Amino acid sequence: MSENTILDVKDLTTHYFTSKGVVRALDDASFQLNGGQSLGVAGESGCGKSTMAFSLLRMVQPPGRIVSGSINLNGMEVTKLSEKEARQKLRWQKVSMVFQGAMDIMTPVYTVGYQMKEPLRYHKDIKGQKADEICMRYLDMVDLDPELFYRYPHELSGGQKQRIIIATALLLEPDVVILDEPTTALDVVVEARIMNDLKRLKKELDNGMIFITHDLSILAEISDNLAVMYAGWIVEIGSATKIYKDPKHPYTQKLIAAIPRLHKDIDRLEYIPGAPPELTNPPKGCRFHPRCEQAFEKCTKVEPDEHEVEGVMVKCHLYEED
Ligand SMILES: Nc1ncnc2c1ncn2[C@@H]1O[C@H](COP(=O)(O)OP(=O)(O)OP(=O)(O)O)[C@@H](O)[C@H]1O
Ligand code: SF4
Ligand SMILES: [Mg+2]
Repeated sequence: MSENTILDVKDLTTHYFTSKGVVRALDDASFQLNGGQSLGVAGESGCGKSTMAFSLLRMVQPPGRIVSGSINLNGMEVTKLSEKEARQKLRWQKVSMVFQGAMDIMTPVYTVGYQMKEPLRYHKDIKGQKADEICMRYLDMVDLDPELFYRYPHELSGGQKQRIIIATALLLEPDVVILDEPTTALDVVVEARIMNDLKRLKKELDNGMIFITHDLSILAEISDNLAVMYAGWIVEIGSATKIYKDPKHPYTQKLIAAIPRLHKDIDRLEYIPGAPPELTNPPKGCRFHPRCEQAFEKCTKVEPDEHEVEGVMVKCHLYEED
């Protein structure tokens, strides 16, 4: 763990205990995040990305709960906090999140300013003129006209609303900001602008950012490190540049090959045949084996260990020493 590490997650496991069985949404996830650094989290729908994010905020909804593992945030053990402590000490102050589809949850009857000021009042008892000034400063920071403070959500575009949500998540200067699919509903031009803003803000604010998306090409642009998830596991994690250039895990290789590229002669895009497994009953051995072209017998029986390959962690039998 480096001096600058703000978040240290070890073997984090979160399951949903449903009437159809236990959904193993997140198993043994481990990673670290430093100040001023970003971690991109990628993987197909249902692989556990949002579950991991909710676990960090201690907001996993029943029937889900954190089963084991630890989340150390600047010395605070997040898994041990009571619900009251999580509300008072953790959420929004230390870790904030831009939820998937967040721009749709702005309340139409209140102005932007009224909604932005709420966390300042609740967590820091900052009100009135001072709160207005802080909110406007953050609107400016995400490249918006501070005058939007006085508008109602229906007067704004989707991109503007999403920036307001991002500004609100930054207001309390949290150590970690999690952005879950922050630009999925937006067109590519607006998406690129917001991503550039986030890249700049990460440097300016020196906090840790976690970007979640199934679009790996965006993450390669914006993330220092990359975690690739499959069926509740982190299967590859390390420097985003390294992984993007030379992916080691067969699943990451397929994901990257499936990214459409301009100016490249390709007859057809790669795709990964089959679908991710039901997490109530994931395949034995390696969870990816039914879809993996490189699978061999051991893969169907034994769960792979994590191996360090050229500085990147890969959970795959192909990299066993013997
Ligand atoms: N409240 C819940 N009850 C039961 N199962 C759940 C619940 N929330 C999520 N799951 C299951 O947990 C698994 C992981 O879901 P999660 O939402 O974390 O995936 P995701 O990677 O964020 O997917 P997406 O890209 O579609 O947002 C899925 O199998 C999902 O069906
Ligand atoms: S462990 Fe086996 S099945 Fe899993 S990714 Fe590696 S080669 Fe493929
Ligand atoms: Mg999700």
